[in-house]
Amino acid sequence: MKLLELPPGIGIGRRRHRACSHDLAIVNYDEASEVLLVMDAGVCAEDDYCPSTIDEMNGVLLVLGDGRYPLTKELGHGAFGEVFEGRDTHLDMPVAVKLFREGVTFDAIFAEARVQARLSDNPHVIAVRNVIVEPPRPYVVMDLCPAGSVRDRLKAGTVTLVDAIRWTRGALLGLAHAHALGVIHRDVKPANWLLLDNGARAAISDFGLAEDTVRRILVDPDIYVPHQAPEVPVEGTSEASDIWAAGCTLYRLLTGKYPFKDEYEAAAGSFLAPHRLNLQVPMSVSRVIEQGLKVRPGDRYPDAVSMLSALNGCRVTTSWTKVEDLDTIETWTASAPGADYRIELVLRPKVGLELTARKDVRSGAGFMRARQDRPPTLARARQVLHRWLVDVVEGQRL
Ligand SMILES: Nc1ncnc2c1ncn2[C@@H]1O[C@H](COP(=O)(O)OP(=O)(O)OP(=O)(O)O)[C@@H](O)[C@H]1O
Ligand SMILES: [Mg+2]
Repeated sequence: MKLLELPPGIGIGRRRHRACSHDLAIVNYDEASEVLLVMDAGVCAEDDYCPSTIDEMNGVLLVLGDGRYPLTKELGHGAFGEVFEGRDTHLDMPVAVKLFREGVTFDAIFAEARVQARLSDNPHVIAVRNVIVEPPRPYVVMDLCPAGSVRDRLKAGTVTLVDAIRWTRGALLGLAHAHALGVIHRDVKPANWLLLDNGARAAISDFGLAEDTVRRILVDPDIYVPHQAPEVPVEGTSEASDIWAAGCTLYRLLTGKYPFKDEYEAAAGSFLAPHRLNLQVPMSVSRVIEQGLKVRPGDRYPDAVSMLSALNGCRVTTSWTKVEDLDTIETWTASAPGADYRIELVLRPKVGLELTARKDVRSGAGFMRARQDRPPTLARARQVLHRWLVDVVEGQRL
C-alpha cells in the first residue's frame, strides 16, 4: 500500500490530500504496519496516493491492538481525545474506544484508567475493559453505550422531566459509589452521563479521566467552565463540587440552560428557579437543585446519597408534552400509570379564555372532563395551567 507522506507523529485530524487537494479526514498512521487509515477518502484521481476508502476497508476506520479492536464510527470528541465505536474481536463484544490526544501523559492515563476500572463493577459506572498506553497514542477500551450520552438527548431537545430525574438518580448512585471509595469525578456533565437500556437509565463515565493533573496540561485554568462549582478554581475539587455539578446538570436537563452565565453569577449564587422556566417542574425538584447549587460547599447536600434521597422524595409520575395545535392557545398531553391527560387553553368567542383538563382512564371509562376554569387574563390562565401540570406530575388527582 502506498502511503501519503505525513509529518512524524501525525494523529487524528483533517488533512488535505497533497496530490489532488481533496479533503481527507486522516484517522491514524501506524508506522510499524505502514497502515494509513482515513474516514473518508472521497474520489481521487491520484489512486496510487489515495488511501483506502471506508468501503474497501469494510467500514473499518482504524484498527488498534494488533487487530483486536477494529473501530467503525467516530462517536464524538472532547478535550482529551476522540471516542470511537468498535468491537473487541477477542471477547466478541461491542466496545467504545477513547483515544487520547497528544499531551496527555501515559502515567496520567494509567492512573486514571485504574481508578475507573476499580469503580467498574457498579451498574452506575461505565466499565473500563482495557487500557493501552503504547505509542502513538494511548487509549482506553470501555463498554459501548449505543444510545449515546445525555448530552445527545439534551441537544436533540427530547429530555422529559421523568428522564431527567431518572438519569440524575443513576448518576448520583454512580457518584455515591465513587465517593465511598474516595474518588472524585471532577467532570460531572451531560456528556459524561451515558445512556443504558435504550435510554431507560444513565451511568457515569470518565471517572478520574479529567484528573486535575491532566486538566492542567490541556485546559486553560483561566477559562470559565460552566459545570464547575464556584469554589473549584481556589479550593480544588471535592465531593461537594461533584454534587454542585450534578445539580447543574439536572438544571440543564430541565431547562435547557445553564443556571449561571459566568463565574460572577455562580459566585453570587442567584439563578432563575427551574420551575419558572419549565412549567412542569414541581417546586420540590427546584428545591433539590437549589440546595445542590449552594455557593458554600458546606451548605450543599453532605453527600450524593442525601441528594438522591431528597430527589426520591419528590413525587414525579409523568411528564407533559406540549402539543402544536392551531385551535388552542396551549395544549399539553401526558400519559401516567393508568390514565392519559390532556389540558387545553382556548379562547372562545363571547366566552373568553377557557381552560379544560381531561382525563382518559384506561379501564375504558373514556374521556371525562376533570377540571374547568374561566381565567380572566392570560397571565392568570398560565398560573392555573402551571398548577394543574404539576398536580398531574406529582400524581395527584385532577
Ligand atoms: N462508552 C461510550 N459509549 C458511547 N458513546 C460514548 C462513550 N464514551 C463517550 N461517548 C461519546 O463520545 C463523546 C465524546 O466523549 P469524550 O469523553 O471524549 O468528551 P466529553 O465528555 O464531551 O468531554 P471530556 O473530554 O471533558 O470528557 C461523548 O459525548 C459521548 O457522546
Ligand atoms: Mg467524556
